[in-house]
Amino acid sequence: MPAQPQFDRAELEAFWMPFTANRQFKARPRMLARASGMHYWTPDGRAVLDGVAGLWCVNAGHGRKEITEAVSRQIAEMEYAPPFQMGHAPAFELANAVVEWLPDGLDHVFFTNSGSESVDTALKIALAYHRARGEGTRTRLIGRERGYHGVGFGGISVGGMVNNRKWFGTQLPGVDHLPHTHNLSQNAYSRGEPAWGAHLADELERLVALHDASTIAAVIVEPVAGSTGVLIPPTGYLQRLRELCTKHGILLIFDEVITGFGRLGSPFGSQHFGVTPDLITMAKGLTNGAIPMGAVAASKGIYDTFMQGPENAIELFHGYTYSAHPVACAAGLATQQIYKRDGLFTRAREIADYWADAVHSLKGLPHVIDLRNLGLIGAVELEPIAGKPGARAFDAFVRAFEAGILIRVTGDIIALSPPLIIERTHVDELFGKLADVLRATP
Ligand SMILES: Cc1ncc(COP(=O)(O)O)c(C=O)c1O
Repeated sequence: MPAQPQFDRAELEAFWMPFTANRQFKARPRMLARASGMHYWTPDGRAVLDGVAGLWCVNAGHGRKEITEAVSRQIAEMEYAPPFQMGHAPAFELANAVVEWLPDGLDHVFFTNSGSESVDTALKIALAYHRARGEGTRTRLIGRERGYHGVGFGGISVGGMVNNRKWFGTQLPGVDHLPHTHNLSQNAYSRGEPAWGAHLADELERLVALHDASTIAAVIVEPVAGSTGVLIPPTGYLQRLRELCTKHGILLIFDEVITGFGRLGSPFGSQHFGVTPDLITMAKGLTNGAIPMGAVAASKGIYDTFMQGPENAIELFHGYTYSAHPVACAAGLATQQIYKRDGLFTRAREIADYWADAVHSLKGLPHVIDLRNLGLIGAVELEPIAGKPGARAFDAFVRAFEAGILIRVTGDIIALSPPLIIERTHVDELFGKLADVLRATP
């Protein structure tokens, strides 16, 4: 497919694109112009099947009229309202709607504008919580190797992806990391949760022995690590982590920016795994990607800890100009109604077996060294080209777009996370085309 002709290089120069190979893109742009249902369309009218829900966010599918209408109504009614010391109805309604989906025990919601802000907010709440209850020595934060928690300084500090860290100085002090759980020699081609690796959670005991529990505020993990290339937690791993955090008075934060809002066939990953953390970060599916928004859910115990001192004093010195932005709240409310009305949070469970079969049908294709799946998440790990990490998967990504499917790659791993409205025919098309791409990938 030739470069799309209507964009000349000079017009593309000013926009410094995020997480993008700018020079490659601008030499050979991949433009999207509109979207509906399971598809994007290019400016020249070619349909592209969305295998990644935009970027793990358009869970209810594209072009939902109810969201468009709710957003338009809210902009016309009141485009902005200050969130500090003032309120508006959609913010409280959306917080209540989110609480309905949360696991029991989490019943307060703090709004942000992205996953990265949600992570930094959760880490700050954890630190302030311990201080508020007289354990101000708990300042250490524990993340995990290969974790992705966005791009703020808090998020890259607890995150564990080397390229997101090495360029940006020393990050936050007092951070340590659990080992990641990815092990192809033990777990390659696992269907669903891998059997090996729950014991890796016990590494938290080692960190407690090293630093002492009295210095540790929180552990943050993604229930399923997404951006690093889809690492499914070994059976029992998250349960063990919960037990150890409880034992040592450490808060457990689940970063559910991608596992939230139905991705695993439950409202949150927490319910899927039967493990309740103390804080949950979310974003993406909260508004179906239509308007930027994130949130942090906190337990009653955490919230109540802050509700002390004089009643006219601010309890948490944190917030954003656009926290609970009315237009984002309107998008969020319309999105939650769609999820509820269309039963989308059980959809992933219904189609999960068909999806798993499709993922594992790629076994034996050239360069494939592992296949992973859970709910409506899939991953294809490719053998890297010697000395050129990421090149093979990137080539597959470009070919896939040309073949009419949108996939996502990180390193040499292809990640798949379609809108939850996906039908079997779409699954067939997605994996049929992907198989062709893999056969043709050098
Ligand atoms: C687990 C997780 N946390 C945080 C983020 C960051 O979200 P955002 O890009 O909205 O800042 C992401 C984004 O993919 C994510 O997957």
